[in-house]
Amino acid sequence: MLKIGIVGAGRIGKVHTQSICNYVRNAKIKTIADPFMSEETAKWAKSLGVQNTTKDYKEILNDPEIGAVLICSSTDTHAKISVEAINAGKHVFCEKPIDHDVARIQEVIDALKGKKVKYQVGFNRRFDHNFEAVHEAVKAGKIGSPEIIKITSRDPEPPSPEYVKVSGGMFLDMTIHDFDMARFLVDSDVEEVYVQSAVLVDPAIGEAGDVDTAIITMKMANGALAVIDNCRRSSYGYDQRAEVFGSKGMAGIKNDAVSNCQIATDDGVTAEKPMFFFLERYMQAYSKEITSFVDAVVNDTPTPVNEYDGLQAVLIGLAAKKSAQEHRPVKVSEIENDK
Ligand SMILES: NC(=O)c1ccc[n+]([C@@H]2O[C@H](COP(=O)([O-])OP(=O)(O)OC[C@H]3O[C@@H](n4cnc5c(N)ncnc54)[C@H](O)[C@@H]3O)[C@@H](O)[C@H]2O)c1
Repeated sequence: MLKIGIVGAGRIGKVHTQSICNYVRNAKIKTIADPFMSEETAKWAKSLGVQNTTKDYKEILNDPEIGAVLICSSTDTHAKISVEAINAGKHVFCEKPIDHDVARIQEVIDALKGKKVKYQVGFNRRFDHNFEAVHEAVKAGKIGSPEIIKITSRDPEPPSPEYVKVSGGMFLDMTIHDFDMARFLVDSDVEEVYVQSAVLVDPAIGEAGDVDTAIITMKMANGALAVIDNCRRSSYGYDQRAEVFGSKGMAGIKNDAVSNCQIATDDGVTAEKPMFFFLERYMQAYSKEITSFVDAVVNDTPTPVNEYDGLQAVLIGLAAKKSAQEHRPVKVSEIENDK
């Protein structure tokens, strides 16, 4: 039985705790650490069978019984705690992004060199049953050679301006999942990015130095073209769709809803809205991604989303940021060469 330590008991730390306790075989959480650990959170952890809670994540790193660490703390702590955990010989699952700074991500990559520990990055959408089906169809050659990737990714409501200020901006916080998705769907890196962006939802987001709406076009290394459309507000719920068009056909998915019931009357046909947000839409994907991490550790196989994938998504995000600022196409290699 793999013993796990969770670093960070906020939104996503709680999601992973719940899914490990309820759905993941072969693994058990021994300790959860958070500097703001409250009695309420400690009680909640105990109710799920987690006995130890602490304010100091180093207790996890120094515990020889704990084999793997899930880093679910705020983004600015990911790279530092990753390096410390790797050096302590722990397998690491790190939430996205590893860092906003390429040099700090490189420190994690360097720490991994020559070590026998596994490293996985939290791009949970790869484990969603719908996106997985598109990936499988493309991989099996069912649509021929991929030519166009279309991703729609719209959040139901914008974050607070305070969150926007520390998030690294929309491209590194939100679109980063879509950059990873484009790479995943056609198994190819991204070469070039061009962005049109605007502040159409909330002027406070603009005042905080970010954008809330964007159309992003990308040239993939395999020759395919990709387009992502993003908005921080969608009145009908979390809008997450994708399609890959190729020489022999197209594979595409719709949103998930609580039910697929349609009501038809002489007024028209109505159906359920998409699920509200990521906690609703991706709960199954979160437990599948942690299961895949635990399997990689237990069976000593490669993790399905590694540090290279983590780095690529950030490089593309930085290229998108630069493209938006300078109103020109930016090659990902330009960002790599800036390192
Ligand atoms: N993959 C996804 O779908 C997804 C979804 C949400 C968040 N995230 C990522 O997860 C991370 C956390 O996001 P969140 O929404 O849970 O934020 P949050 O603010 O709800 O939680 C972060 C927690 O980390 C704790 N923390 C800060 N420093 C710590 C330290 N040194 N040791 C232990 N705990 C520490 C904070 O006290 C807080 O409780 C972010 O990097 C975010 O990008 C990923």
